Amino acid sequence: MKDERIVDPNLQDEDNELSLRPQKLSEYIGQKEAKEMLDVYIKAAKKRDESLDHTLLYGPPGLGKTTLAQIIANELGVNIKIVSGPAIERSGDLAAILSTLEEGDVLFIDEIHRLPRFVEEVLYSAMEDYVIDILVGKDSQARSIRVDIPPFTLVGATTRFGDLSAPLRDRFGVVLRLDYYSVEDLKNIASRTARVHKTPMSDEAVLELAKRSRGTPRIVNRLFRRVRDFADVKNDGNITLDITKEALQKLGIDDDGLDYTDYKYLRALVETFKGGPVGVEALSATMSEEVSTLEDVYEPYLLQEGYIKRSNRGRMATEKAYKKLNVNFYKGIFE
Ligand code: ADE
Repeated sequence: MKDERIVDPNLQDEDNELSLRPQKLSEYIGQKEAKEMLDVYIKAAKKRDESLDHTLLYGPPGLGKTTLAQIIANELGVNIKIVSGPAIERSGDLAAILSTLEEGDVLFIDEIHRLPRFVEEVLYSAMEDYVIDILVGKDSQARSIRVDIPPFTLVGATTRFGDLSAPLRDRFGVVLRLDYYSVEDLKNIASRTARVHKTPMSDEAVLELAKRSRGTPRIVNRLFRRVRDFADVKNDGNITLDITKEALQKLGIDDDGLDYTDYKYLRALVETFKGGPVGVEALSATMSEEVSTLEDVYEPYLLQEGYIKRSNRGRMATEKAYKKLNVNFYKGIFE
């Protein structure tokens, strides 16, 4: 079995507890710009009694795209249907989903960049004209019939904006980018989670957890549950700084939130490839990982935090990466 990373932002959690998810825009912490825009667009749509324009949310995994989609539906006072791009294999599947929507509903498609192309094509007319063309009959009898669907809002989410086809991208009226959260925002999220779980947690513990959660609410919440386990067993349920440090150390997470997988990546780059530049394919071969795993899972946070840089000649380790590994940056360069 492959090791599971506790800080993997892609892992969907058991903790989709309703109580943990904010229900209103005003309860959603961080992402100030996206929130401000959505607030205006939602109010405008309600005022005109229209459906909200199709909205695309993009950014790294674990930043709350699904939560935001649910909030959009709540604020609009409509139902939401949640599906995942790769799970829709046939255009008939999508037609079936679209035909169950009621006026104004939100259809949330996660990982929308992974929709098969022929399924995507059904979406074009649905998004633009609220109609779908359904093929009926076989062979020479085959014909297409046009079916109306009620006006609805498509909320698409993707971690890979660049992988979206231009025709799909162009059909979203609202495009919002979610960024990694600040430590301050993560502190607020951790405090909120502790409150929801009625768990006492000191301010220092909240700060420590926030600092080590890679800018990602999903990771804050996951680490919170593990730290709470330690606190329950060893400290009568009180989450203190010491308990937090102990739990995170046992989980293999360092002071900056990096784990063994980050170290593996940085070691390959610094030790095997002398700090680069090196192509992602060579790194992928050395690490026995898919290029897409490196690009989607390993690299975004290392890039964001300045451990690595991308150039047109490939990946390069920065001085910060050398420091992290206790390797002399300048020695490497002048050798
Ligand atoms: N839980 C996950 N993401 C959140 C956010 N942005 N605000 C509040 N709670 C959250």
